[in-house]
Amino acid sequence: MAVFRLALFLLFIGGAAAQLQIEPQNVALLRGSQAQFNCSTAPDRSIMTWLLKGVMVVTILPNNWTASNPRFSATNYTTPGSYKWQFIIDNVERDDAGQVTCQVLGVPAQASSLSVQERGSVTITGGNQTVTQGVQMEFQCQAVGWYPEPNVSWSVNGVVEKYCTNSSVAQGNVFSTNCTLAVTAARNSSVQCLVKVPAMSSPDSSTVFLTVAPKAATRDQTILIAVTVAFSAAALLFLIIFGIIFFCKRRKKEKSGYQEELRRARVQSQHRTPVTTDARGRDNRGYVTDGQYGAVWHTNYSPKQQTSYPRHDDFDDGYRNHRHMTMV
Ligand SMILES: *[C@@H]1O[C@H](CO)[C@@H](O)[C@H](O)[C@H]1NC(C)=O
Ligand SMILES: *[C@@H]1O[C@H](CO)[C@@H](O)[C@H](O)[C@H]1NC(C)=O
Ligand SMILES: *[C@@H]1O[C@H](CO)[C@@H](O)[C@H](O)[C@H]1NC(C)=O
Ligand SMILES: *[C@@H]1O[C@H](CO)[C@@H](O)[C@H](O)[C@H]1NC(C)=O
Ligand SMILES: *[C@@H]1O[C@H](CO)[C@@H](O)[C@H](O)[C@H]1NC(C)=O
Repeated sequence: MAVFRLALFLLFIGGAAAQLQIEPQNVALLRGSQAQFNCSTAPDRSIMTWLLKGVMVVTILPNNWTASNPRFSATNYTTPGSYKWQFIIDNVERDDAGQVTCQVLGVPAQASSLSVQERGSVTITGGNQTVTQGVQMEFQCQAVGWYPEPNVSWSVNGVVEKYCTNSSVAQGNVFSTNCTLAVTAARNSSVQCLVKVPAMSSPDSSTVFLTVAPKAATRDQTILIAVTVAFSAAALLFLIIFGIIFFCKRRKKEKSGYQEELRRARVQSQHRTPVTTDARGRDNRGYVTDGQYGAVWHTNYSPKQQTSYPRHDDFDDGYRNHRHMTMV
């Protein structure tokens, strides 16, 4: 009896001295994957229990182990130096997330945490794009069905261009998010949308190709040249037609002008003669009209003038004569 008590006491001492080691400490896994936890302690143990979210799911006895669910199992890693078992959860469910606890009789329990994440889909809507150089465009990335809120980023030719700030919306127990990348088409590029949750070692991605068609410079120039030439030709044609019309009009005018001139010249000569006569008369006071001009005048002009002409002879009234002439 005393020996048994001593044994219990020793066990207690030993247990108090013993430590449980659970690893890993915090586990983030994608739904559907396998979770593994190791628990080890001093070698002289034989009973271990595993709890998931406070519920006992696996019991390990000295000769065998039992599990509450076929997805749960245990593997013996005991060595002479350590009592060690591995707790395995196959095909983890979102509902499995929580605390995983290892208990060994007489030793303080140790816990780890399991987080179960969801991998959704990622798509760049619109697919491959072909645009003209310099065009402003947008790519839209849709990340649907992720948990927790995913990190979404854009990379162009492998260089990160943008981190999308979390603007996810919860849909049931998953998140979905949209992220836009605005780019100016400069060169042929591969555009990637990357989505990641902590459980993933590398992000999922969607890739589209941006094909940049060079600005149709030669075609534009050709069009420009064609337009210029057409306009120039039209302008030239107009000028020629205008010129011809103008020239013709001018010719006509000149012709009529010439006749007019002739007429005017005739009139003027008719006008001027008396003036000259007059001037002559004035310049040379000794000058005397020969009467011949006067005879011409007298036939064409009014009797008033006719009457005035004889005054040419009157030298003193030279001015009056002149004034008379301008009035005609
Ligand atoms: C658990 O222990 C075994 C054996 O030492 C080792 O191979 C395995 O990687 C460990 N697993 C974890 C999750 O630590
Ligand atoms: C675990 O392995 C150890 C060492 O190989 C062995 O002594 C022990 O009986 C095993 N336990 C069970 C339950 O299989
Ligand atoms: C985009 O282009 C790449 C390579 O040119 C091709 O492999 C891929 O199928 C295309 N994707 C779509 C959605 O057309
Ligand atoms: C992009 O690629 C296409 C053919 O793949 C090519 O015709 C075009 O010139 C390229 N654009 C640029 C800007 O390099
Ligand atoms: C998500 O982004 C935040 C901030 O940029 C960063 O701290 C975090 O580590 C990222 N998470 C993942 C899974 O990449």
